[in-house]
Amino acid sequence: MNNLLEVSHLDVGYGKTTIVRDARFAVQKGEILGIVGESGSGKSTLLKAIMQLDDTGVTVQSGRISFQGQNLTSLSNEEKRAFRGNKMGVVFQNPGSSLNPLRRVKKQFIETMQSHVKIDKKTAESRILELLEKLNLQDGQRILNSYPYELSGGMNQRIALALAMIKEPELLLADEPTSALDVTVQAQVVEEMLKLRDRFGTSIVMITHNMGIVSKMADKIAVMYAGRIVEYGEKAEVIKNHCHPYTRALLEAIPRLDGKRPVGLPGRPPTFHEVKCGCGFASRCIHGCEQCKTREQQLIPVAENHWSCCSHALGV
Ligand SMILES: Nc1ncnc2c1ncn2[C@@H]1O[C@H](COP(=O)(O)OP(=O)(O)OP(=O)(O)O)[C@@H](O)[C@H]1O
Ligand SMILES: [Mg+2]
Repeated sequence: MNNLLEVSHLDVGYGKTTIVRDARFAVQKGEILGIVGESGSGKSTLLKAIMQLDDTGVTVQSGRISFQGQNLTSLSNEEKRAFRGNKMGVVFQNPGSSLNPLRRVKKQFIETMQSHVKIDKKTAESRILELLEKLNLQDGQRILNSYPYELSGGMNQRIALALAMIKEPELLLADEPTSALDVTVQAQVVEEMLKLRDRFGTSIVMITHNMGIVSKMADKIAVMYAGRIVEYGEKAEVIKNHCHPYTRALLEAIPRLDGKRPVGLPGRPPTFHEVKCGCGFASRCIHGCEQCKTREQQLIPVAENHWSCCSHALGV
């Protein structure tokens, strides 16, 4: 099957510092990829690289980001803007970055919609109100007439998501789009994102710290640690047959309802200057050995549609 988005051998950073190394994954039409991993592991940096925005400071140092077969890294800034406007919806980790603080919410929606399709203001407004209601924002008229600073963090987060969704993009890139919401509202927002996928075949790449959301929404999971995707594959494979010790640690750290206490992970992740080669997890890993610190890291197939960087799990 053809991939909508394909990322291969991607190194990304800020200036000369490399943060994300050798990232590889693919997303097909209508597929949802969940990216999980420790804070500071490079998730947002990776997503910003795919967004191809000029003002994030992120630079693609090598590798390829291919969207419908076209290499995005070789487009001019103008081509990138046109491309993004038509085909991608983006939601930043901080909703403030997705919204213009100087414009009322209604104006931002109308502009977004009119730049995408020919639509009159009245029809646009009723479509916006409908979407806001589905995202559990009942007080639609007041919200539309507000500036972002007049609304709560959770409201702005859903507005940023609605702005990205209303274009019915082919690819939605969302960085923790539900982190400020309580669980019942989260469930509703997740439901709407799934409906968007089902209705329009939208592909979604979503970063989240919430493993419950990943297991509900994702078709595939990429686990990041210290700038690398250390395990990647179909959701059931990664959750049930995970073979990277960091994935195991991540799953064991989830709070549980059965009385079993979550297990914390001792130690600290390495800085980005410390992980030029070898496994960044070695110093915190029960299997960590001298070879782990020097062996080149790459995703190796462990089953059909499942890859891992850990050579111990592979018996190498
Ligand atoms: N604009 C920037 N300039 C320089 N370094 C940056 C910049 N933004 C992020 N970094 C660095 O890149 C690394 C990865 O940050 P990133 O925001 O991608 O992590 P993350 O996995 O999204 O973390 P979190 O889960 O906390 O959002 C961090 O060490 C961070 O300090
Ligand atoms: Mg982040």
